[in-house]
Amino acid sequence: MAHKIILDCDPGHDDAIAMLLAHGNPDVELLAVTTVVGNQTLEKVTRNALAVARIANLTNVPFAAGCAKPLVRPVEVAPDIHGESGLDGPALPEPVIDLDPRHAVDLIIETVMSHEPGTVTLVPTGGLTNIAMAVRKEPRLAERVKQVVLMGGGYHTGNWSAVAEFNIKIDPEAAHIVFNEQWPLLMVGLDLTHQALATPEIVRRVAAVETKPARFVVELLEFFGTMYKQAQGFDSPPVHDPCAVAYVIDPTVMTTRRVPVDIELTGTLTLGMTVADFRAAPPEDCTTSVAVDLDHERFWSLIIDALERIGEVDL
Ligand code: BDR
Ligand code: CA
Repeated sequence: MAHKIILDCDPGHDDAIAMLLAHGNPDVELLAVTTVVGNQTLEKVTRNALAVARIANLTNVPFAAGCAKPLVRPVEVAPDIHGESGLDGPALPEPVIDLDPRHAVDLIIETVMSHEPGTVTLVPTGGLTNIAMAVRKEPRLAERVKQVVLMGGGYHTGNWSAVAEFNIKIDPEAAHIVFNEQWPLLMVGLDLTHQALATPEIVRRVAAVETKPARFVVELLEFFGTMYKQAQGFDSPPVHDPCAVAYVIDPTVMTTRRVPVDIELTGTLTLGMTVADFRAAPPEDCTTSVAVDLDHERFWSLIIDALERIGEVDL
């Protein structure tokens, strides 16, 4: 049976590729796409999500906009990585589908509660504002979802500060709520996603698919590559967000380790750090795990297969 997922995202170059992977993989049933402020304003990332839906010919899934601000902190966006639009590089088509009228938080709650318990996986690839709001509004979500597989954090490095990753740093209070719920949670953090590099060889393989969606991905990767080189000195860009979707499709694409993780809310230098406690065996009631090692070839094959399955699209 296909894995039912809700993708909560802030497209975002790597979020867009996560959407294409979820849509193009036959083992995923994409129940909803929800957007949250992050890489750019809510308005921009929502428009981007709808444009990606058109590029992927994704028409039968509800899209809803969520929170425009973090729970406590001022809005912080990432134009130095994703550009002014949040998805700079390729030309974006006009969206053809309408937004669902519901708030993303309500769409998440209604979708999870209307499916069998233990069947829906939440895949957040942006800040955790919507997810925190959803579980506060409907506490039964915590026992109802199958798992939360999120891109964010890192147990040995940061990217938005020395020790904090962007998705956690922009709304650490929301992350604190999400990491402290008693649901199975996998943190697919920078330790793992910095292995998901789009090398020149990978970009060539994507280009060889020779469809408009594949060309779109190549243009995303080219822009992302330039920005990551300038901003963080990477030779090839790390393509974070599809790693979380890839895990849902095939958990053997990465190794994981069960370990308690909590979020730093008060440190002057460490705000938003995902603090993992590796000192001893995890306690019985530990529900958090972290991603460790990626099978690079398997990961990129999943993305290329998804693009082949999506095929050519009329734009
Ligand atoms: C994360 O931050 C965003 O810029 C990316 O889309 C990804 O979700 C990486 O730190
Ligand atoms: Ca993202």
